Amino acid sequence: MNNIRVKLVLIDDILSAGYITRISPYIYKFVNRYLKHISNISAETTYVLHIPCQTFSMAFENLSRYNFVKTPPDVLFRKDCCYVVVCGLTGLSWEKVNFIASSGAGEVVSLSRRSIDVNLQNEVDKVSKRTQCRIRALSTDITMLDDLRRVFQEISETTNFKIKGIFQGAGILRDTLSSRMNERQLHNVLKPKILGTWNLHLVSREYPLDYFVMHSSMTSVMGNIGQSNYGAANAFMDCLSHFRQLNGLCGQSINWGPLEVGMLKNNTSTEQILKDQGYFPLSVSDIFTCLRKIFIVTQFK
Ligand SMILES: NC(=O)c1ccc[n+]([C@@H]2O[C@H](COP(=O)([O-])OP(=O)(O)OC[C@H]3O[C@@H](n4cnc5c(N)ncnc54)[C@H](OP(=O)(O)O)[C@@H]3O)[C@@H](O)[C@H]2O)c1
Repeated sequence: MNNIRVKLVLIDDILSAGYITRISPYIYKFVNRYLKHISNISAETTYVLHIPCQTFSMAFENLSRYNFVKTPPDVLFRKDCCYVVVCGLTGLSWEKVNFIASSGAGEVVSLSRRSIDVNLQNEVDKVSKRTQCRIRALSTDITMLDDLRRVFQEISETTNFKIKGIFQGAGILRDTLSSRMNERQLHNVLKPKILGTWNLHLVSREYPLDYFVMHSSMTSVMGNIGQSNYGAANAFMDCLSHFRQLNGLCGQSINWGPLEVGMLKNNTSTEQILKDQGYFPLSVSDIFTCLRKIFIVTQFK
């Protein structure tokens, strides 16, 4: 047999400092060559060898069980619907509030532990006026189920719209090597993403949603030194998205790389470590492009 190419990728190499930066020119060349080549590939002469692997089986084999539903970009968010954004007053979720409001939503409700101050309220009012979308902020802690149920009840009683989306943006970093990690550093990171997300899942069952979106990280797929707690917390959300889809519910978990907003914004040391590995933060306009692509494809069983 001719034309057999084997690309061997060692995970230890990938995770070593500076590796991605060093090899990115080769990856770029390879992908370019491959993309040119792929248009000439014919189904009769090309075979793809599948090597059994647990990680791949979870990510890809089940895809045949899902139906992909594509929504036209101009009706992603509806004027007669309300969308709940957890932690919508900060970072990535604030950008998402902007995105959803600008994309035609009737109402966006932000849920945060912190209460809104005057400056932030002014910003919210500006976006609300510009987009003709009602935006309000309510206080709750998503890790407390009763509190969360109460706030959803309050939203239902005070809106004229149907609740059609939940966007989970709570998260925290407490980076440290596993060997030095104490219980508090572990639980602080796991709580909002595991307990908080599970509570949102329980509450969401009362609403026929179009979106249940979670902000995960590439750390749950690739790992990262000092982030075993954060990786585990995000991996839970990735699994929950599969679980929801297999139960006929919407569910998406986005494995973001570094972003120019939110938790990395003033964290120059982590940002530098990621840059040394070849990961450069996405700008707000890149984030919006990604969100548009992600929201267009929702999955149901
Ligand atoms: N920025 C990035 O580069 C990046 C990359 C990959 C994934 N993500 C994910 O994107 C999401 C948003 O992050 P961000 O970058 O926008 O950071 P951020 O601005 O720090 O937002 C995180 C939010 O999580 C809330 N939170 C933390 N612990 C909580 C808890 N126990 N219960 C309820 N809320 C809690 C914080 O609320 P308080 O103000 O009340 O503490 C804060 O508003 C996170 O899930 C993060 O893991 C971000």
